[in-house]
Amino acid sequence: MTTTTAVTVRVPAKVNLQLAVGPAREDGYHDLVNVFHAVALFDEVTVTGARTRATGGAAGLTAEDASGGGLASHLARVPLDSSNLAWRAADLLARETGAQTPVHLHLRKAIPVAGGMAGGSADAAAALVACNAFWGSGLDRAALLDPAARLGSDVAFPLIGGTAVGTGRGEVLNPARCSARLHWVFALSEGGLSTPEVFAAYDRLRPDAPEPQGDPALMAALAEGDARAVGAALSNDLQPAALALRPVLAETLEAGRAAGALGAFVSGSGPTCAFLAESAEHAEHVAAAVRTAPDCAETVTAHGEVPGATVL
Ligand code: C5P
Repeated sequence: MTTTTAVTVRVPAKVNLQLAVGPAREDGYHDLVNVFHAVALFDEVTVTGARTRATGGAAGLTAEDASGGGLASHLARVPLDSSNLAWRAADLLARETGAQTPVHLHLRKAIPVAGGMAGGSADAAAALVACNAFWGSGLDRAALLDPAARLGSDVAFPLIGGTAVGTGRGEVLNPARCSARLHWVFALSEGGLSTPEVFAAYDRLRPDAPEPQGDPALMAALAEGDARAVGAALSNDLQPAALALRPVLAETLEAGRAAGALGAFVSGSGPTCAFLAESAEHAEHVAAAVRTAPDCAETVTAHGEVPGATVL
C-alpha cells in the first residue's frame, strides 16, 4: 500500500456576473441570485501530515505570496490559525469522516485577500478536496458540497468552477453555459470592506428590496458567447452599498469605463472592482488606465471561465 505524503489542489477566484440581493432573512442572511464565474487566478493548497497533534483536522497553517510580490501586503491579512476558513474546512471534514491523521495546510496565494473574489472561500474548498484525497475519505465532489455550504455561502462554487447560478444564500448551485472566453481586469484596493457591513448598508439603502430575480439577458449572452452583451448585462445590487462605504471606488469604475471596458462594476461586496475587456490586449489597456485611479493599488488580469478545484 502506498502512503500519500502530500496533496496539492489548485483553486480559482470568482467574479459575480450578477448579484441580485433580496431582503434580509430572519437568520440574517439574504436570498440571492448569484451568477458565479471562475477566473484564472489561482491559489494552491497543499496538505501534508503533521505530527504535532494526536487527533484529526488541521494542526498548522502557513501562507506564502504566489503573485510575484504584488500581494505581499495582502498576505498579512491571512489568519494563520483556526480562524482561517481552510483550517475550519479540514477540522469539519475530519469530524465528518473520522479521519485521525492531523494535517498541515500550506497556502500559496495569488487571489487578493478580502477583496470580494472569495479567496478565503476558495482556500476552504481546496482544503476540503485536498484533505479528502489525503485521508482517502472517498467523498465525491457532490458529497463535498454540503460541508462546503456549511462553511460559507461562497465555498461550494469553487468545487465546481466554470459558471453557475447560486440561489438560496448563494450555495445552491446550477451550472450555466458560458461559451465566450471573457477577459477580466481586477482593480485591488489597499484595505478591505467587511462583507457583513456591506450587506447591512444594503439593508439601509434598500429597506424594500424585492425577491432576487435572475436575468435572462445575461444568461442568453453567456450562452451565445457575446461578450459585449455580457458586459451590458453585468449587475451587482451590492454596488451602491460598497460605493456608499468607499465613495472613491466610483473613480476606479469611471477610469475603466473611459478606457472602453465593456462592463465596470464592484466585485461581490468589494472593494475589488472588475472590468470586462474585449481581448487580452484591451485588458492590458484597461488595467493601465485603472491604475491611475486614486484608490487602485494594483491590477491583475485573468480570463474565464476555468474549472473548479483540481488535484495537481
Ligand atoms: O456565508 P458567509 O460567511 O460567507 O457570509 C458572510 C456574511 O455575508 C454573513 O455573515 C452575512 O452578513 C452576509 N451574507 C448575507 N447573505 C448571504 C451571504 C452572505 O447576508 N446570502
